[in-house]
Amino acid sequence: MKILVLNGSPKKKSDTFRLTEAFLKGLNADGRHAVDIVNVIDRQIAPCRGCFGCWARGNGRCVIDDDQNAILDLYRNADVIIWSFPLYCYGMPSHLKAVLDRTIPLVKMNMVREADGTVRHEALVDFSRIHTLVICGCGFPHWEGNFDGLKQMCKTCFGDPDMVCVPETPLMNVPAAAVVAEPLLGRFEKAGEEYAAALSLSEETIAGLEKPMIPAGEYIRHVNGSAE
Ligand SMILES: Cc1cc2nc3c(=O)[nH]c(=O)nc-3n(C[C@H](O)[C@H](O)[C@H](O)COP(=O)(O)O)c2cc1C
Repeated sequence: MKILVLNGSPKKKSDTFRLTEAFLKGLNADGRHAVDIVNVIDRQIAPCRGCFGCWARGNGRCVIDDDQNAILDLYRNADVIIWSFPLYCYGMPSHLKAVLDRTIPLVKMNMVREADGTVRHEALVDFSRIHTLVICGCGFPHWEGNFDGLKQMCKTCFGDPDMVCVPETPLMNVPAAAVVAEPLLGRFEKAGEEYAAALSLSEETIAGLEKPMIPAGEYIRHVNGSAE
């Protein structure tokens, strides 16, 4: 399988990417998959200009001459695409959102109305054969609604992908939190093995990955520097 990983953390030492690396360890345990990791922050990806030049040409390429066309080549040929990024203002970091915006060369202007009432653009690529997984870390403890906007966007853009939304991820890089971070890394590795076999994750597995490492009150006290 060809696996494309779009790493949207701008940090060298990403909390989220630690989880994704553990997942990849399980996913590619036998080393037989081709894994391309794109650190988006290191690529030249301009914002979409909204010119629709891609649709005028209809060749699946963006008219802007930067690193996006190489990403589009990987994208259209991938069997699995993993979007790994921290939650920023309840959504994707802007540099990664630019990558997503600039996937529109992969669809046409023609619109299709689905049976459920939704409307989408006709695809140039067979997206149904691409399995998408979203791994998103965030700084808050778990609270209803933190990931709602992101979930809605990913559901619509990627066609109901598997999503793993992890609270309290700054703990991944706190040495004193290793006692709770290491077991989570172990669960991510196991989840990678499950994904390799089934190309999906069970609800039970996702719940285990999203389970807060420590209770919300304790997390908030640590963040606020209280010794309580
Ligand atoms: C600009 C910015 C916006 C953020 N917005 C949110 C947010 O909406 N919700 C949240 O829970 N955490 C938010 N965070 C916290 C990050 O998601 C958190 O620190 C995460 O662990 C960083 O992951 P990384 O190390 O993989 O980049 C934000 C951080 C930054 C810098």
